[in-house]
Amino acid sequence: MLTEPLSYKEAIEKASSSITRFPLIHIRGVPLMCHIANNWDSIWAFRPDPSDLLIATYPKAGTTWTQEIIDLLLHNGDAEACKRAPTPVRSPFLEICSPPPIPSGLDLLNKMNPPRLIKTHLPFQLVPLGFWENKCKAIYVARNAKDNLVSYYYFDLMNKTQPEPGPFDGYIHKFMRGELPWGSWYDHVKGYWVERKEKNILYLFYEDMKENPRREVERIMRYLDLSVSDDVINRIVELTSFKSMKENPMANYSCIPSPVFDQSISPFMRKGEVGDWKNHFTPEQSKMFDEDYEKQMKDVNIPFRSLI
Ligand code: A3P
Repeated sequence: MLTEPLSYKEAIEKASSSITRFPLIHIRGVPLMCHIANNWDSIWAFRPDPSDLLIATYPKAGTTWTQEIIDLLLHNGDAEACKRAPTPVRSPFLEICSPPPIPSGLDLLNKMNPPRLIKTHLPFQLVPLGFWENKCKAIYVARNAKDNLVSYYYFDLMNKTQPEPGPFDGYIHKFMRGELPWGSWYDHVKGYWVERKEKNILYLFYEDMKENPRREVERIMRYLDLSVSDDVINRIVELTSFKSMKENPMANYSCIPSPVFDQSISPFMRKGEVGDWKNHFTPEQSKMFDEDYEKQMKDVNIPFRSLI
């Protein structure tokens, strides 16, 4: 008898008894969730099509927002078309591996025809080389360190597959030492920054997107060699506002049930602001963080803004 394939949500529900805060295993010095590390060879061997598009970020830098903008641009602003499936099915997460029967990122990608919109949190040096050999387009989104840290802290409280964040003060130190999943924020933002010209990577900032979303949507459109009307751009800006995406079940991660994402602890679409770090860092923590930041970032000049 033929049975219907499980939806993404059903597959996660079925795996819920195997969900736990998975330990991290280092791959070339980068801490990754054990399921990812255990499948590293097949991830590293992934061969994209030249038409595939990579969207790379450190976790919590605005990945989902950018995925939605790009999907809408590729569909000429058609909101219904972009509700065909939840974000991780429309735009698979390259390296993600979870207990069965949850499909891995590679499982989902292998069932899709290029061009595919592929998400990754891998630092530059761990991105499968085929992306660069095939001259794939790649968009990197960076977010200022303090807001990125605060967002990651809340995410780690609610995401039951990542290590316990523990108290906020200790979390700041883990972030500074690069001990969180996907490693050092500092190395991540620098890795893509230094390669951006050579590899034709569009390097965006979350703060710029907040400040002037229209300008950044147009920037992405030009990079992708697309041309959509002013009306469509306006519609995309509206459909990808924080409020619209928070209410959109295909963009707000309600597809991931509570044994994995417990959104009663903290919603995936939490605040979506620049400068929320001010509500979390004490003046002492901020000073200590800034002093360390100067040292870790002294070799580059990336124009981050922690307030707009
Ligand atoms: P906060 O926790 O600060 O609210 P990612 O998609 O990389 O996991 O990033 C999630 C962060 O981006 C969260 O930040 C989330 O609220 C924010 N975000 C998601 N969609 C957004 C949008 N349309 N506008 C602004 N911020 C958005």
